[in-house]
Amino acid sequence: MTPDTAPEASTLLIALPKGRLADQTLALFAAAGLPLPEGNAGRKLILTSGDGAMRYIMAKPGDVPTFVEYGAADFGVCGLDTLRESRRHVYEPLLLPFGYCRLSLAAPANRPDTPLRYASQPRVVTKYPNLTADFFRARGVNAEIITLHGSVELGPLVGLADLIVDLVETGSTLKANGLVETRTIMEIQAVLIVNRAAYHLKRAAVESVIARLRQHLADVQRPGQADSYQSAPGAGMD
Ligand code: PRP
Repeated sequence: MTPDTAPEASTLLIALPKGRLADQTLALFAAAGLPLPEGNAGRKLILTSGDGAMRYIMAKPGDVPTFVEYGAADFGVCGLDTLRESRRHVYEPLLLPFGYCRLSLAAPANRPDTPLRYASQPRVVTKYPNLTADFFRARGVNAEIITLHGSVELGPLVGLADLIVDLVETGSTLKANGLVETRTIMEIQAVLIVNRAAYHLKRAAVESVIARLRQHLADVQRPGQADSYQSAPGAGMD
């Protein structure tokens, strides 16, 4: 099958977030005996398994829930941060054992106690405006939220903002930039998501993939088995 031909009705389409999460997902699929993309990917954005059973759509991480909600993909893998921020309506049948990090509020280390006691409107920079708005709204704090697309730690350093809401994995980026975590907003890991219609229309195929992954994860999570999909220290998920 070539990228410009329509997939068979029985083909399962899965949207993967390009980068480390896609690599970890493919390692998990391989270990669970699921079909993998054939050949060298290069810059191709749609990859098909040798048996034609699976088609992999290599998407920007933040776009995975969009592909899945609209049915352009039956399945997807993304971080819980991306999914909750997107507000997309999909099924989430299985958490995956990688992509662990947390979404946190952080403040300059020399004034870490101020965030929730601001008399006036704090300015907050983040890549997660919806989750950040939810967090402050729930606490009755009228925050001004400024969206950046990366390196949000810059915000307090250059006077753009008082606070940041961002992913923390090892904490080394915060530390290197003179910031400290003051609240954990949500714990994050990767999640398998499924289009709601596909879950019913392709039920046997969808359930078979979920069952294989679930069985494999149960096998490796028995005592004494190493978790080979554990996220390596470094950058968090988009
Ligand atoms: C992520 C996140 C933090 C950093 C956290 O950024 O936004 O900046 O990783 O990881 P740490 O706690 O292990 O230091 P990423 O590298 O994805 O780049 P970005 O800031 O440009 O989004």
